[in-house]
Amino acid sequence: MLCDGRIVCGCADPYGHRVLGDVRSASVRDVWSGSTISTLREDLNAGGSQFCGDCPLKLPLKKDEVPVVRSLDAGPLPSRMYIECTAACNISCNQACCAPETGITRTRQAGMLDFDLFRRVIDEAGASLVRIDFFNYGEAFLHKRAVEMCEYIKSRFPQVYLYTSTNGLALTDAQARRLVHSGIDEVTFSIDGATPESYVKYRQRGRFDIAIATLRAMADEKRRSGRDVPFLNWRYILFKWNDSDAEMARARELATDIGVDRLCWEITDHPEDAYSRRFVPGSAELDSIRHEIWDDNNLGNAIPGAMPRARIDVRTPWPAVPGMPLRARAGRPLQVHTRVRNLSTRAFPAQATYGRRLVRLGAQLCAADGTILDRDYARAWLPQTLGPGDRADVPIEIAAPEQPGRYALKFDLVSEGIDWFERCGSTTTVKPFWVR
Ligand SMILES: C[S@@+](CC[C@H](N)C(=O)[O-])C[C@H]1O[C@@H](n2cnc3c(N)ncnc32)[C@H](O)[C@@H]1O
Repeated sequence: MLCDGRIVCGCADPYGHRVLGDVRSASVRDVWSGSTISTLREDLNAGGSQFCGDCPLKLPLKKDEVPVVRSLDAGPLPSRMYIECTAACNISCNQACCAPETGITRTRQAGMLDFDLFRRVIDEAGASLVRIDFFNYGEAFLHKRAVEMCEYIKSRFPQVYLYTSTNGLALTDAQARRLVHSGIDEVTFSIDGATPESYVKYRQRGRFDIAIATLRAMADEKRRSGRDVPFLNWRYILFKWNDSDAEMARARELATDIGVDRLCWEITDHPEDAYSRRFVPGSAELDSIRHEIWDDNNLGNAIPGAMPRARIDVRTPWPAVPGMPLRARAGRPLQVHTRVRNLSTRAFPAQATYGRRLVRLGAQLCAADGTILDRDYARAWLPQTLGPGDRADVPIEIAAPEQPGRYALKFDLVSEGIDWFERCGSTTTVKPFWVR
């Protein structure tokens, strides 16, 4: 939803060219099942739509490629929304499509999202939403009531995963602290550099010290109040002027000192004269930080020691003999004893107030050659939060498949709702599994 109430189809439409409807004159339900979006769904199933125009997300079908066919019944309401409070910004990112000089705010029919309109949309769609991305183009927290909007969403619909991305420059210390208590689940700070001089080359007119102070205030408030949300990310776009080992090491140190949950690098290809020449796709340099890249996986972390790493010893059968299979009867339960060790500097939480990011042990059912048959085959809770270096015995009950045969079980930890540890390079343990 753009800040004037028009609904566009996605985040890659900065100037509002592809409008599906307008919640100033219609309900969300009407827009979601209206003729524009219904025709678009039909067209996409048939291979393409005029509606998409010059959308940069559009990809040509390859020769003989059959378009993906999705259900035309998308339910009465969406499950996910982006909400734009304003397209205005307090800085001017170098050659960005949403820099104030582009005139982006003139493409909106309102400067700031009307609070009553916002409330009406949330009241109508909130129960069906699983996630709200509370940002788009511009800087959301320039809206005087943005923090109040976050509070409204989380107090009315606590099941919504509420996420925002900010440059951190518009929030006062008091607002940043208040935002921590709103219940917002995750906040990303876009801070592209670790010194004021390099930061301002992209974030023109920005103030590095203010962005860092706001991030510090949120981390401090979260720690002081003993809350496990919001999860705080520092997202750092690599440009040719901020990609030296020295500057990246400075960011790693600063993130550790502030108490940020996750530091990640972003690889970009624009602006053309600014992107990092060092970390280009396919380079050994990029490969060396692969798991620390924002888009590589959802757990990777550039903070020293914070990359999730575990060791899982499978202690059934015992005493262990290398290569000895786990054996079970078809359809019967098998108790497997494991010992899990935290090899990172961050705790593995056994519980989370909001039901995500708690860590559990998972067993994935694989064919004998390792092909995954069922990624979510079995789960076991950690008996308690595992601090850095801690270990715990974690029994896991596996129901043997009904079909006898030779399988394998892959044991890995999972940060629930986020990702498997393997995706950021943690070692898994694989055991042959013979079912009689
Ligand atoms: C356009 S900003 C708007 C939201 C907010 N004002 C902020 O700074 O996070 C949304 C996202 O775009 C990303 N972004 C900005 N310039 C980019 C670039 N040249 N390449 C890749 N991502 C970029 C930012 O890092 C941020 O995560």
